[in-house]
Amino acid sequence: MNHNIPKVTLNDGHKIPLIGLGTVGTKGASGVHELLSAFEKGYRLIDTSTNYENEGTVGEAIRRSSIPREQFIISSKLPGAHHKHDEAIYMIQEQLYRIGLAYFDKYLIHWPNPKDGLYPEAWKALVHAQKYGLIRTIGVSNFLPEHLERIIDETGVVPATNQIELHPYFNQREQRQVHEELGIITESWSPFGRGKNDVFSDEVIKTIAETHKKTPAQVILRWNVQLGNIAIPKAGTEEHQEQNLQIFDFELSTDEMFQMNSLNKSDGRIDNQDPAEYHEYT
Ligand SMILES: NC(=O)c1ccc[n+]([C@@H]2O[C@H](COP(=O)([O-])OP(=O)(O)OC[C@H]3O[C@@H](n4cnc5c(N)ncnc54)[C@H](OP(=O)(O)O)[C@@H]3O)[C@@H](O)[C@H]2O)c1
Repeated sequence: MNHNIPKVTLNDGHKIPLIGLGTVGTKGASGVHELLSAFEKGYRLIDTSTNYENEGTVGEAIRRSSIPREQFIISSKLPGAHHKHDEAIYMIQEQLYRIGLAYFDKYLIHWPNPKDGLYPEAWKALVHAQKYGLIRTIGVSNFLPEHLERIIDETGVVPATNQIELHPYFNQREQRQVHEELGIITESWSPFGRGKNDVFSDEVIKTIAETHKKTPAQVILRWNVQLGNIAIPKAGTEEHQEQNLQIFDFELSTDEMFQMNSLNKSDGRIDNQDPAEYHEYT
């Protein structure tokens, strides 16, 4: 079934689907097969990154599909070792050569790496790369409120999206509030906690799922959408790919949203990756 996924309009006027496809572990010939299957089901927003080592796989799937280039929203990220302005521009060009595209639809700074303090310079590079036509929409990932404030102060340019860890046990309420005030759309990475935190067997989520004759995964994605987020679940199997798009035919009540929001844990991160401390040096 080919789903027409609803879209959200970003602060720069671009529209992107509320559900995209994560690609950690999507590699090689099997990865191309998984991507082609996802395209057939209607996925158009594809989240890749240099440190997933699969920009070539994503590019190959795009070339093999019959879907026009302009229908895709291909999103990649700037690795931590390339935050200096000119290195960032060269890196974006290199990634485009690897994926075989003329531009990225969406591009993020992967992590702020605050100890290096180069993320404002990296942000200026993204602003320039957008002007050069290498990127359509620019955003960030794993940026805390202080990182957002600094790049906005230094450039006057507000990111369109901030891709952050967000799942039922770590729902990022305060961070989402900051995004709302700034006009930034929240994009949830690891919306299922990468299957590491047993979220699918949570009794509250299972009960809500039974009420709606849906799966726990579908309830989690529906909760995300009702919070106003984009989510990018990774799904390799056709069944999961299909399921994750069948979330626009039901609605969680105010009480069910409250129950989902109450599952938050202060130490709910799956891998303890606090952006204030975590450094990514691909
Ligand atoms: N910006 C960042 O720093 C950052 C960090 C981490 C991840 N990300 C992005 O976010 C994406 C998603 O996160 P993730 O890959 O860590 O994990 P995830 O999406 O939370 O979970 C993926 C796991 O859930 C399973 N799954 C998918 N749909 C399911 C369903 N309907 N029912 C049951 N199980 C289901 C998948 O299995 P199958 O594959 O077998 O279907 C896979 O094992 C990544 O792939 C990546 O693109 C970004």
